[in-house]
Amino acid sequence: MNSNKPNLIAEIPGPKGKAYLEKNDRVVSPSLPHAYPLVIKKAQGCLVEDLDGNTYLDFAAGIAVCSTGHCHPAVVKAIQDQAEKLIHICGADFYDPNYINLSERIGSLAPGSEPKQVFLGNSGAEAVEAAIKLSRNHTKRPNIIAFFGAFHGRTMGAVSLTASKPVYHKGFGPLLPAVTHVPYAYCYRCEFNQSYPDCNLACIDYIENKVLGQNLPAEEVAAIFVEPVQGEGGYIVPPDGWHQRLRELCDQHGILFVDDEVQAGIGRTGKMFAIEHWDVVPDIITSAKALGSGMPISAMIAKEDIMTWDPGAHGSTYGGNPVASAAAQATLDVIEQENLMENAASVGAVMKENLEDIATNSKMIGDVRGLGLMIGVELVKDKTTKEKAKHETEEVMMACFERGLMVLPCGPNSIRFSPPLNITQQDADTALNIFTEALADVEKKL
Ligand SMILES: Cc1ncc(COP(=O)(O)O)c(C=O)c1O
Repeated sequence: MNSNKPNLIAEIPGPKGKAYLEKNDRVVSPSLPHAYPLVIKKAQGCLVEDLDGNTYLDFAAGIAVCSTGHCHPAVVKAIQDQAEKLIHICGADFYDPNYINLSERIGSLAPGSEPKQVFLGNSGAEAVEAAIKLSRNHTKRPNIIAFFGAFHGRTMGAVSLTASKPVYHKGFGPLLPAVTHVPYAYCYRCEFNQSYPDCNLACIDYIENKVLGQNLPAEEVAAIFVEPVQGEGGYIVPPDGWHQRLRELCDQHGILFVDDEVQAGIGRTGKMFAIEHWDVVPDIITSAKALGSGMPISAMIAKEDIMTWDPGAHGSTYGGNPVASAAAQATLDVIEQENLMENAASVGAVMKENLEDIATNSKMIGDVRGLGLMIGVELVKDKTTKEKAKHETEEVMMACFERGLMVLPCGPNSIRFSPPLNITQQDADTALNIFTEALADVEKKL
């Protein structure tokens, strides 16, 4: 792990890795999809080493989780120090200063001047479940609006809001009732065949005039759940005005604006919470992934006057456990002290610009979009017809992997770049050189 240049890889997985792939198939749930045959030994910063000694530049960061890079010394120390003092106590039953202090800090970081209260969990889905339950409990309304392309998690409530792939629902029904999906602001493939800004946000008009105007009584809608930038759906950034119009619609009808920041939040887009790019103040925010630099922790943050549920109404044995809370505190310290939001904004802007340049010479890049270090590249077979290059997207991802770059797909035909927030410009340039080579390799076959 002493070089920041990926090795050229002769064979992946090597013999040691192969043994684990075989064992995996025998003992691990087949529901886990596995992006490629990477069998991990250790990781440090932006580099990952596999069991056979190959080194990879990590632009996946454990699905946008390792915000401070792998095993940041300050995060490791905070975990070690806390583990020596107290590993578990249950912040639901007793008063844990770790839980209380972290709640105070996260609440004060959230947008809006109103006081906030925080519920800590272990995963993104748990934060979303808490938000679903709180929305219904507070408003006494049953319905929820969510978006096509959304990913909110895989537990029964969260998966009912998820609408990015049929496999998430197949065989699990009946799902949570009273969930209505509507089109997201996916301008590259506008559901209404219009162009921004001439469209005047027809997709919001649709919610207002069709969904609420002709079908769903607005006074029976508890919440609209929205990702500020759609993550698993394809790293889709809505245009200016869209979130603001959604907020207005919520205000008009007493509907809660629930901002799912599980993937986009905690500095990744260059702001602590991505919704700040649009100056919108949500009623409820869900956060996870980047918050603990890899330790399992999530937060559901709500305005104090919305956290109206009764004692015992919701809880979790492990949620906000002391060690994960210490990791989250250290993560927030590192983000602040090492100016990682500024780094995400500046390195991300250069990466996006470079990708736009690469796109002009590429047959397959249909769209480049993103904010900060949350960048998506949509691949198409033909730039005019926009036919989705689904298989080719897998091939590009594999070709990157074989050259020592870890990336993940998102949506059916996009590649996402979500490296640690302390990635250097040099590593970002290396990653794009590898990506360009990998893309050219696949394009040759088109
Ligand atoms: C926006 C969003 N919400 C919720 C989740 C679910 O998080 P978890 O996998 O930690 O349950 C994810 C996971 O990718 C996500 O991207």
